[in-house]
Parts: sequence; structure tokens; C-alpha cells
Amino acid sequence: MEYNFSRSMSNLKPSAIREIFKSLTDPSIISFSAGNPSVESFPVKEIGEISKEIFDSPTLSAQALQYSITEGYSPLITQVKNRLKNKFNIGNDFDDLIITSGGQQGIDLTCKILCNENDTIICEKPSFIGSLNAFRSYGVNLYGVELRDDGMDIEMLENALKTKNNVKLIYTISTFQNPTGITTSLEKRKQIYSLAKKYNVLILEDNPYGELRFSGEDIPTLKSLDTEGIVIYSGSFSKILSAGMRVGFLCAPKPIISKVVVAKQTNDVHTNIFFQMICSEFIKRYNLDDHIANIRKLYGRKCKIMLDSLESTVDNRIKFTRPEGGIFFWCSLPEGYDSAEFAKVCINNKVAIVPGTAFLTEIGQSEPGFRLNYSMPTDDEIVKGIT
Ligand SMILES: Cc1ncc(COP(=O)(O)O)c(C=O)c1O
Repeated sequence: MEYNFSRSMSNLKPSAIREIFKSLTDPSIISFSAGNPSVESFPVKEIGEISKEIFDSPTLSAQALQYSITEGYSPLITQVKNRLKNKFNIGNDFDDLIITSGGQQGIDLTCKILCNENDTIICEKPSFIGSLNAFRSYGVNLYGVELRDDGMDIEMLENALKTKNNVKLIYTISTFQNPTGITTSLEKRKQIYSLAKKYNVLILEDNPYGELRFSGEDIPTLKSLDTEGIVIYSGSFSKILSAGMRVGFLCAPKPIISKVVVAKQTNDVHTNIFFQMICSEFIKRYNLDDHIANIRKLYGRKCKIMLDSLESTVDNRIKFTRPEGGIFFWCSLPEGYDSAEFAKVCINNKVAIVPGTAFLTEIGQSEPGFRLNYSMPTDDEIVKGIT
């Protein structure tokens, strides 16, 4: 049988990262290629206790095993709304919030409800492959704006807004970007916001790493600057509680959330209710901020070990970022070198990295940059792998 797949799917290649995962069955390979949180960051005991209580209670267990509503578990919606408002000044009267199956689903559904085939989404170059592939699956054209040390190249962004067809969204991972670790400065956030307003385009701000700062000062999110209802904000519990729970959220103007609710109904009906209950109960009983403070400490330590190793061992023709949070370094080979070739050399030396080609809006381009992750490897593996 010959299988004829849809046009939108035929453009999608298996994620280079997942492909690299497949090569990691060899336990002697040191992996800097994952985007996973450290297993040390999971509150295993606390989640075990909450789970037991849910299943010891006839009412709670029935609730956890039954269908639920698409918008999300209402105590969790209230907790997330309050936390976003009180801690980050996110959420206006015109906004609402839906609990999604990870941030990934919020990104996918945003594109689904807003974009038609051949519309354009402006992304950072490089950007998160999971989002790029979600956008591609709707037949959308992607345009990558070069990322500088303090965020997107604003001139290039305005030029794209002026010249590209039907631009629907500016997609930005404003804080501790995946894959580069770069944080967009406040000045650039304001410029991006004004340009979006001027050209009547929505912003999708994807912020799964924003709470993982271990040095420097917090910068207000684009969503907290939103007085006109032009920013859609995607958040996640993946990097601050557990990635396997698949609990994220989308905060956006009410008409957008209403459409996302309808789109989610044809997708997975609702986010896993058991894990929404766990998330809610964890926030109620324990101090989430204290828990996150421990994760920041852990990643700050691991980041420093990788930075020290890079500084003391790596040829100075290789440039690297100095992250103030998140879980990634971005390194650049000298001009003319290709990171895809370098990744093969690394694998032959039992180290896995992700070549920057995986994060580009254009498939098949050469790219000297590559991504290193420090949340997953042990301290010894970081030193040995970098050396
Ligand atoms: C930038 C970015 N956005 C979104 C996601 C999706 O995360 P999740 O669906 O686990 O919330 C990730 C995951 O690595 C990411 O790096």
C-alpha cells in the first residue's frame, strides 16, 4: 500500500532533536542535546502523596477519572490567573485563560485558530523547532528575523512586517530563548510591541523558561505591557514542576480564548484532569516559589560548570552566550563551518549536541551555531563532554 499523506504534513521532517534522542540509547554518549528539565527538579514525594490522597477519596478519584471541561480545572485556572497577575502583572479585564496540554498545544492551537495557508508568521532566527513544525503543519510561511544579543533585529522585523504577505503573528520566546538562551531587552520588547500595534499584527509570547532566572534582573514580559489586547501569552508547568504532566496555559484576549476552546474540543477535549488536580493541589499546599528557587539554584550551578569548562577548554574562535537563566547555551563555530558536520564529529566522540540547522525557518540552510543543554547531564558529564 502506498500512503498519501496530506500536503501540510509532507513538508514536515522528523524533529532533528527526536532523531538525536534515538541515537542516545548508547549509555556511553554524553548528551547535551535534550531540552528536558533535570529529574532532580521533580517533587516526587509531594506528587506521590497528593496522588494517593486523590485515589483514597471516592469523590476526588471519580473527578480525576471522569471527563472534564475544556477550559481546565477551575481551581487551577484561578490559581494560575492570580499568580500571573500578582507576580508578573499579566492579565487584563479583556483577557481570559485556558489550561492546555503543555505550552506546545497552546502554540499549535493559536496558529490553528488564526492562520490560513500561506499566511506568514515572523519568528526569531533561530527558534524552537516544536513551534516551527506546528506552524508548518498549517501551511503557514515562516520568516526568521535574526536574533541579536538583546533580541530580534528590529529593522529586519519592521521590514518583514512591511513586505511579507498576510503577517498574522510575531512569535517570540522573549526570555532565555530556546535554542540560544538570549533574553530580549525591555527596550526591544517595547519596540516589538509598538511595531505589532502599528502593523496590526498579534504577538505570541512563549515563555516556558521565564521563571528560571539565576542571575541578573527580571524583565517585564511583553504580555505585561499589553494594554490593547495584542499579546497571546503561553506558559507551562513543564520546566517548573513536571514536563510529563503536560500542563500549560494560554492567557489571551477573551475572543481568542473562546476560539481556542472550540479548537481544543476537536483536539484532546481537555487537558489531563488528574494532573491538573495534582498541579492545583501542589500550588495550594506547598510554596511553588520556593520549589522554583531550588530549581534556579540547581541550574545556576550547572550553567556555571558548563561556562567554566567552555572558558577553560574551548578554542577562542568558538563564541558562546552567557545565559542568566533557562537551560541552554548557544555556541557558534567560526564563519564557514557547519554545525551539522560538527554534530557528527561530536557523536563520533560520544557527545550529542543539536546543530543549529534544526532551529531555522528555512530547511536545508547551513548554520555555524549549535545548542548545548546543561540541565540533564551530571556535573561530571558536563566537564568531560565539553573537554
Ligand atoms: C520555547 C518552548 N516553547 C514551548 C515548549 C513546549 O513545552 P511544553 O509543551 O512541555 O509546555 C518548549 C519545550 O521545550 C520550548 O522550549
